[in-house]
Amino acid sequence: MSKIGIFFGTESGTTRLIAKRIAKGLTRRLGEGLVAKPLNVNRIQPEGLGAFRALILGTPTYGDEALPGQPNGTKEASWAEFLPRLAGQDLSGVRVAVYGLGDQESYPKHFLDAMADLHACFAGLGAEMLGSWPVFGYEFKRSRAVHDGHFVGLALDQHLQHLLTDQRIEAWLDDLAPRLLADLTPARLDHA
Ligand SMILES: Cc1cc2nc3c(=O)[nH]c(=O)nc-3n(C[C@H](O)[C@H](O)[C@H](O)COP(=O)(O)O)c2cc1C
Repeated sequence: MSKIGIFFGTESGTTRLIAKRIAKGLTRRLGEGLVAKPLNVNRIQPEGLGAFRALILGTPTYGDEALPGQPNGTKEASWAEFLPRLAGQDLSGVRVAVYGLGDQESYPKHFLDAMADLHACFAGLGAEMLGSWPVFGYEFKRSRAVHDGHFVGLALDQHLQHLLTDQRIEAWLDDLAPRLLADLTPARLDHA
């Protein structure tokens, strides 16, 4: 059974595309069978997350600097509907890394804000958060996704910097992949 789940929200498909690239990159590094096929978060139930030892979660920012979802103007349900349904779950022992899609040119005061909300939700449920990313190389005024001088997850901008996306994903995975399942005892891995 796969140990790593990849879930995303999206409106126009970019965050799905990136999820597929991340899955490919992880499989190349960790081998076949550990990484599940990426799924839109509106296709799963909250209990579905419990099957994984590690999660990679992606979101664009929409609406009022917010997570995608119908309350924030996207066509389909997404993270905005899913996250409240996680209330009360205990995710301690689960490793989570987030990535965000945004547009630093059009939204320089709210660049990737939704990634902050995704990160805060899973950190609040006790997950071990991995995968912060340097702010160097971006031009924006403000982002709620910056904590202590780093983005809380991988920051991607397919509008202004799409040529940098693949190398950013590769560098992020070089650091993240070895840590996603490291130091889990065989018993815990078998049980997962
Ligand atoms: C109505 C609207 C609002 C947006 N608001 C923000 C924002 O506040 N911050 C940001 O970084 N990007 C914002 N974006 C850019 C999207 O996050 C970006 O285009 C992203 O790549 C879309 O991903 P998707 O194709 O997976 O839906 C906005 C885009 C639209 C159309």
